[in-house]
Amino acid sequence: MFYRCDVNDHGLPYNPFKACVIPRPIGWISTVSADGVPNLSPFSFFNAINERPPMVMYCPNGEHRDGGEKDSVKNARETGEFVVNLASYDQRDAMNASAASVPRGVDEFELAGLTKEPSTLVRAPRLKESPVNLECAVLDILELPTSDDKKSGRMVLGRVLGIHIRDEVIVDGMVRAELLRPLSRLGYMDYAVTDSVFQLERPK
Ligand SMILES: Cc1cc2nc3c(=O)[nH]c(=O)nc-3n(C[C@H](O)[C@H](O)[C@H](O)COP(=O)(O)O)c2cc1C
Repeated sequence: MFYRCDVNDHGLPYNPFKACVIPRPIGWISTVSADGVPNLSPFSFFNAINERPPMVMYCPNGEHRDGGEKDSVKNARETGEFVVNLASYDQRDAMNASAASVPRGVDEFELAGLTKEPSTLVRAPRLKESPVNLECAVLDILELPTSDDKKSGRMVLGRVLGIHIRDEVIVDGMVRAELLRPLSRLGYMDYAVTDSVFQLERPK
């Protein structure tokens, strides 16, 4: 089949786009507002985009239920900082709980029964339960084109300033994916967990 994305003539019960770009890593983003309210939310429109220097991006789309930007972009704009926390399989329910649409002022760490840990270089707290935390400075916030439903989209670009890695996930000097067991997002309500890994050598 082929369908045009401007008219979405796929004829399927659900838009298949997100099921065609899989698996998507989940950036579990923590921020703090200018007046000190912490926020934690998952984003699957997220990825690493550069290695030297390390850079990441996440894309909050749509609006907050109280109007205006989602907290994860509003806070990043106000403070210029955010933290990416890795979501492991063990945290799947807490990760999902932290995506709840709640009024501004609600701390999703508390809502999801999670623990805040001070960061080293940024004011946004990091997630203690997470085996990897990337402390980031905002590089830019891009406005994305809107679709027919006029839903807004934004891309927050960040430079990674410092990385916390739990010592137990480092074996023989390498961070082991089998120990991180990262969650990823598929289409629809589907998720995957990475717990099987293989190697390929690069061609010369
Ligand atoms: C696994 C998962 C991935 C998500 N990915 C995105 C995303 O990429 N962009 C987005 O705007 N919302 C995404 N959401 C929804 C946000 O987490 C949710 O809107 C959250 O409340 C963000 O709002 P806040 O920043 O105001 O707290 C996702 C939710 C889940 C459970």
